Amino acid sequence: MVALGSQHHDYGAMDIEVRRTSKEEQARAIETCELAFGWNVRPDDMEAIQKTVEPERTFAAVEGDRFVGAGANYAFELTVPGGHIPAAGLTLVGVLPSHRRRGILSKLMREFLTDAHDRSEAVSVLWASESIIYQRYGYGLAARHMSIQAERAHMRFLDDSRSGETARLLTASEAVTELDPIYEKARSTRPGMFARSETWWREHRLRDPEQDREGASPLWVVIIDIEDEPSAYALYRIKGNWEDGVPRGTVQIAEAISTSSASAKALWRYLFGVDLIETVESHFMPVDSPLPLMVSDPRRIKVRISDCLWLRVVDVPAALRGRSYAAADRIGFEIRDDIFDDNAGIWTLDTTGSAEVSHDGTADLSMDVRDLGAAYLGGTTMTSLVEAGRATENTTGAATRFDAMFRSAQAPWCPEIF
Ligand SMILES: CC(C)(COP(=O)(O)OP(=O)(O)OC[C@H]1O[C@@H](n2cnc3c(N)ncnc32)[C@H](O)[C@@H]1OP(=O)(O)O)[C@@H](O)C(=O)NCCC(=O)NCCS
Repeated sequence: MVALGSQHHDYGAMDIEVRRTSKEEQARAIETCELAFGWNVRPDDMEAIQKTVEPERTFAAVEGDRFVGAGANYAFELTVPGGHIPAAGLTLVGVLPSHRRRGILSKLMREFLTDAHDRSEAVSVLWASESIIYQRYGYGLAARHMSIQAERAHMRFLDDSRSGETARLLTASEAVTELDPIYEKARSTRPGMFARSETWWREHRLRDPEQDREGASPLWVVIIDIEDEPSAYALYRIKGNWEDGVPRGTVQIAEAISTSSASAKALWRYLFGVDLIETVESHFMPVDSPLPLMVSDPRRIKVRISDCLWLRVVDVPAALRGRSYAAADRIGFEIRDDIFDDNAGIWTLDTTGSAEVSHDGTADLSMDVRDLGAAYLGGTTMTSLVEAGRATENTTGAATRFDAMFRSAQAPWCPEIF
């Protein structure tokens, strides 16, 4: 049984019960969330969502017999430095406009996090609709993503050599089974990505209802083979546009995944080679994408960085044991946690042999659990958290040593909103 802290706001939400939904009730919970977002859930959307969200991981905030808030946890296998761990992926969170700011989300959050803890999911991850919402529940900014808009006419590679590459163009439904091996190879070294089931591919990633295309083409899939080996792919749409007889279309990349430098270059060469296009854009790229370093005129790629994965450490020792470390050292840090009392206190991480974690020692650093969440995948440095006045360095040089241990070779990234 997990020990929960007593500090939480309850405002007027005393009359609200938060509970797991039954299979029959799940659709109502999903509708509640969609209503909170102001969306209209179509029957085909509902069917697709229900195929990926398990009813026993779905929760509702109930007033009398009405659902007024909802949310659910996906069961993810999340890549972390050196491996992967079970993680709760929080989704479908919403409270009806009539019931906001009464503490209902706060009640729901304790339920989502306790459920994750009970299932031995050491961390909870989410994409936030608004970045103001989740730090209060112990989430830290663990991964950022990069959006780009590239002027196609200016895209030239510094090294334009080729490496036995061929491109195959498929429709989304043809591609389902071909994409996963490429995705899995990329995922194995990229913290923040999670495993996809075939259902996820069909009902989530490759789902392509006409209503969601906003005037663009159906989703196309290009697979790049290098020496006949499938090595990269992109999911994209074409948004056509003509002005005064001049083609000014856009390639809208939904996802671009490569497994080597040669396949990354071949993929971008293909995407920059699509005719009748002025702009190639993607909203979901890792911040360390090699693309700007590959081209001769990188300023012709407009870049925007934004928050992507927020991570909450649910179980400190399990999370610390679940990843590997880039340096051998021994460091103690003090954690404050308003929700899980068991996480609070001083933890010592010793990576001089196989990583060992003990609930004792002296605190070289002090931080809130959300700062550990921000740093956990290697995407936010402890040095910057100390500079921001969030974490405190009690031993000189401790933040630098922490960063050497927690560093990740690839920047953490999550390629899709869930
Ligand atoms: C975000 C949402 C779920 C919050 O639900 P809620 O029940 O109103 O939240 P609570 O009353 O429990 O809020 C707890 C605290 O968070 C703050 N908060 C919550 N959502 C906020 C928001 N969108 N903007 C600013 N503050 C917010 C509250 O002011 C409150 O602060 P306090 O403890 O300092 O008083 C709800 O506004 C909603 O459904 N929004 C639209 C859908 C959405 O964005 N869902 C999130 C998907 S990731």
